[in-house]
Amino acid sequence: MSFIGNRRGADDPAAFKATFGRFATGVSVVTCAPQDEPPMGVTINALSSVSLDPALALFCLDDRATVLKSFLRAGHFALNILAEDQAGLSNRFARDHTIQDDDPTETWDSGAPILRNALAVADCVLLDTHGGGDHVILLGRVVQVGYREDTSPLLYYGGGYGKFSE
Ligand SMILES: Cc1cc2nc3c(=O)[nH]c(=O)nc-3n(C[C@H](O)[C@H](O)[C@H](O)COP(=O)(O)O)c2cc1C
Repeated sequence: MSFIGNRRGADDPAAFKATFGRFATGVSVVTCAPQDEPPMGVTINALSSVSLDPALALFCLDDRATVLKSFLRAGHFALNILAEDQAGLSNRFARDHTIQDDDPTETWDSGAPILRNALAVADCVLLDTHGGGDHVILLGRVVQVGYREDTSPLLYYGGGYGKFSE
């Protein structure tokens, strides 16, 4: 009995995307505020917690992303995990990285902008970067966390948004 799905070489980009697109994720806006630059954010779903002690988390950013330099310069980032009604924010920060006046924000210990109505937040100091093919892995020491209990996550699956149901 062999695998019942489609099996392809990993050099087939469509198959690679279809495969990892079946790993349902949340969606996050990663923000930073470099000195002498406006604060900014970018939508990502490639993030993971890494270690509990010490508290570490990472996200992966395309090495051609215009915002990469800002994260390196800032030396900090906040992972703002989005709630189910924030697909609009996800789409906006994927194309326009400016934090607008009507995005309520504050800062915690790292200095990165915290989106006040995010579902959960990990405030991080940038610890290290690693090359990962055409992406860069940004590893952060998590200095503070926060989470809401009154709403549910925005999900991303197969290239589209969804909501969590048990
Ligand atoms: C739901 C969603 C998830 C995304 N996840 C990632 C990601 O994990 N890493 C990444 O580099 N770009 C991701 N992107 C694309 C970025 O948001 C952004 O569009 C891209 O980096 C181009 O940025 P630039 O304008 O700085 O070039 C995602 C976009 C969406 C809508």
